Amino acid sequence: MKIQTKLIKAVHTKQNPYSAITTPIFLASTYAQDEINKPGEFEYQRGKNPTTKAFEDSICAVFGANYAHATASGMGAITLALSLLKTGQKVLFCENIYGGTFRYAKQIMENIGIKYELRSDLESLKSLSADVGAIYIETPSNPLLHITDIKKIVALAHANNAIVIADNTFMPLFQSPLALGVDVELHSATKFIGGHGDGLGGVVCTNDKALGTKIGSLKNTLGIALAPFDSYLMLRGLKTMKLRFDAQIANTKKILEFLKSHEAIQKLYFAGGASEHERAVHEAQAGGCLGAVLSFEMSEKYCYERFASSLELFDIASSLGGVESLICHPATMSHASYGEQLMAKIGIKDNLLRLAIGCEDGEDLIADLAKAFAKAKKS
Ligand SMILES: Cc1ncc(COP(=O)(O)O)c(C=O)c1O
Repeated sequence: MKIQTKLIKAVHTKQNPYSAITTPIFLASTYAQDEINKPGEFEYQRGKNPTTKAFEDSICAVFGANYAHATASGMGAITLALSLLKTGQKVLFCENIYGGTFRYAKQIMENIGIKYELRSDLESLKSLSADVGAIYIETPSNPLLHITDIKKIVALAHANNAIVIADNTFMPLFQSPLALGVDVELHSATKFIGGHGDGLGGVVCTNDKALGTKIGSLKNTLGIALAPFDSYLMLRGLKTMKLRFDAQIANTKKILEFLKSHEAIQKLYFAGGASEHERAVHEAQAGGCLGAVLSFEMSEKYCYERFASSLELFDIASSLGGVESLICHPATMSHASYGEQLMAKIGIKDNLLRLAIGCEDGEDLIADLAKAFAKAKKS
């Protein structure tokens, strides 16, 4: 089956009770056993739920995974994946990861004695110290859209007995970290998968049986399972993900061209745009897919605050991947947890804005940006 069919038909109608066309929402928190010590397929919602399972089965079909575990949010997925690490081990993160992931490292990992480093040189490392348990990457990264060579990182990690965890939220189609050898792929399903700005979710996938079992058990222990209603929302969103993503990419291409020649833009960030090397790597591992996120630094001749509040079609809000276009100020929103010093080191400046491009008409979005630029020009 091609991807669009898998997205819609991964769970067949005949698998649903009464052959219902959509998977019903099962609200039972617990399930009766026939006899003591004879649990059925479902025991307790925190571990497994029929609606959530339908979502997880669909995710396996779509992402080519053997095991998928759905969580209450993308942060839940990150918590779950990083719970594979033990005290004394170290995680190497690529440099500009999502702010919430960094906050997790700072607030939780530090407390339980798991070390971490943010590295901009992962691709050039020849070996890892023995305490490195995992390399954690985001490609394209948030918010500067840097590309990391997945195969190179996998080879480095596996040669040193470490696992690779990839947050693939930005590239849910056209790039398959699992197929490229990563051990654990995770997504914030809140973004492109759910797609409608109305529910939080996350998913952790793997092809390795032992890891799949361990992740399932940890999910049950942590109490971070995706709720049945939200599983339904994510399952529903998944069906139109490709239609939406294709429309978002088409809009993003048009907006990129518009921004490239606009005097208000001082520096533009887009997937594969940072260097010839990143372009080639992104082409090889994601078909060069532009995705639906662009960031830019605004020229000093323009007031970035006035620009953002002059937009009518882009709301100022955290998040991305939904049908609605949004604008975010990473320094005070998605990446505020980094603190000033680290932001300065990584290059998240005050005049950096991130656009999450939705499914509205592309020409309307460009007209809105043009109008807001005109209002934001300093006299
Ligand atoms: C790349 C990335 N991963 C994970 C998350 C966290 O997802 P959630 O908001 O669903 O917890 C985000 C949120 O913006 C994100 O951008």
